[in-house]
Amino acid sequence: MHIDIISAVPDLMVSPFSHSIIKRAVESNLVEINLINLRDYATNKQKQIDDYAFGGGAGMVLLIEPIAACIDALKKKRVYDEIIYMSPDGDMLDQKMCNQMSLYKNILILCGHYKGIDERVREHLITKEVSIGNYVLSGGELAAAVMCDAVIRLIPGVLNDETSALYDSYQDNLIAPPVYSRPATFNGWEVPPVLLSGHTAKIEQWRHEQSVERTKNRRPELYHKQP
Ligand code: ADE
Repeated sequence: MHIDIISAVPDLMVSPFSHSIIKRAVESNLVEINLINLRDYATNKQKQIDDYAFGGGAGMVLLIEPIAACIDALKKKRVYDEIIYMSPDGDMLDQKMCNQMSLYKNILILCGHYKGIDERVREHLITKEVSIGNYVLSGGELAAAVMCDAVIRLIPGVLNDETSALYDSYQDNLIAPPVYSRPATFNGWEVPPVLLSGHTAKIEQWRHEQSVERTKNRRPELYHKQP
């Protein structure tokens, strides 16, 4: 998968892609992440990428010209499955959307200032808008990092044990069961005995029951989506 990310502050996204699972995915060429500085596409001498809004009001607006120039240049190199704008009023990111995106070959992501981006970009150049929750971040960068992390770990080969993504919370609309490790007793707090029994079928059964109970208690709206 190839992911291009356009941002006015691309450095903000270096760290999220430089550690652990995502770093290994990049090193194994399972994903290629290209951070693009919008300022490199500024069309005037001052390298300006934002300006005041027509009609007045607080907050700067990202200009359409550098964004259009940048997207145009990128589209000459590859065909994108989606051109995504990170926005608090986009479609809500969930596991189903991540699963779909994990099948894409090329994704272009545009990060904006929360106050705005010229509406004509959204109308004419963007194919999908995504929100990571009902709250406003200062920009789309952290949202883009969250979305990419959730998608990249689903690409086959990224996780060591491929089945582990299948048992994540939210796959099949069930929350993941609790997990424990050594020691079996800490402060008098015991690990559920079934997990120490070595009886695989019973352990699977217990985990499933825990998932169902947790989903009922913590995410009843998901439980009602069970087939
Ligand atoms: N940009 C600012 N807030 C955001 C949010 N909640 N989701 C996606 N992009 C955003």
